[in-house]
Amino acid sequence: MKQMIDRLFQNQDLSDLELVDLINNLDDDSMDYLFKKADERRQNVYGKDVYMRGLIEFTNFCKNDCTYCGIRRSNKLADRYRLSIDEILECCEVGYELGYRTFVLQGGEDSQYTDEDIVSMIKRIKEKYKDIAITLSIGEKPYASYQKYYDAGADRYLLRHETSARGLYEKLHPKMSYDERIQCLYDLKKIGYQIGAGFMVGLPDQTTEDLVSDLRFLKELQPQMVGIGPFIPHKDTPLANEIGGDLRMTTILLAIIRLMLPGVLLPATTALGSISPQGREKGLKAGANVVMPNLSPTTVRDKYLLYDGKICTGDEAAHCRGCIEKRINSSGFQVNMSRGDHVDFLNQ
Ligand code: 5AD
Ligand code: FES
Repeated sequence: MKQMIDRLFQNQDLSDLELVDLINNLDDDSMDYLFKKADERRQNVYGKDVYMRGLIEFTNFCKNDCTYCGIRRSNKLADRYRLSIDEILECCEVGYELGYRTFVLQGGEDSQYTDEDIVSMIKRIKEKYKDIAITLSIGEKPYASYQKYYDAGADRYLLRHETSARGLYEKLHPKMSYDERIQCLYDLKKIGYQIGAGFMVGLPDQTTEDLVSDLRFLKELQPQMVGIGPFIPHKDTPLANEIGGDLRMTTILLAIIRLMLPGVLLPATTALGSISPQGREKGLKAGANVVMPNLSPTTVRDKYLLYDGKICTGDEAAHCRGCIEKRINSSGFQVNMSRGDHVDFLNQ
């Protein structure tokens, strides 16, 4: 096993069969070694820095019906909200004061916001704050819309591919197309965004081979960011009674992703922190180097519930800022509040 991990470290890749073998047969000793090598690789590229992103969840309306997601359109129990552009700007103001220099604007696929609304949101934030990056996470859009947002000043775009197992993707996403989703990622990349793909770990019926196909897809796409987290059942969805993903498998995959894509910006996600009290710390130690504390107003915090047991739903932005910093420091890392661009984008 260790020899295989060394080869992964060296070559930034293994064959699919070897990856399956690694994931399935990793004993605890070799797992520690895998984390050690992932940590070493992250330190080669980004040192001990952990990048902070302020997350603003600005709408939980969504036209899609993903079977795992708590804000799916069919969930009549979800308490819906949307923030106005002024409210979003207020979140940015609080965030900027706390030192954030990246704002992640995330929402369901809410057709109420026109392209003009999104463009004006981006322009107003960028006019007010010159030294920040904007990351959008608002789902699938036509090429022309992505281009408009980019021209308005958006820097990055997160669109998880969710799973690269086509059959599973189609089962989880009624009326959506796997090919269209992948096309969106290539469109975003072509336009010039720093892009983020990613997947959930422990989805119902997901096999190790499926996870390896996710790794293979990432290796091909070469995104600047990768967001992965455990699937966590939400009580008011069709997957309410399924078993969720676990900490061990998620951290193993984080480490493998760090080794396959050395320069990737890799968050220790809220979902990981939600399934285990030390989840985010363990993610960082396995090679993650980004955290995304919440900047949404506390009045709407407990409404953006994609899964059960989400942490931080009652906490002020300032509280999360401090909490995260303590966690980063106690894990042996340091907070970096800069824009935190991908290494390949730094000198552009
Ligand atoms: N469990 C874990 N992650 C989820 N997401 C959505 N629903 C769940 C869930 N039940 C993830 C998806 C989405 C991201 C914003 O949150 O991967 O892309
Ligand atoms: Fe929100 Fe710890 S990050 S309370």
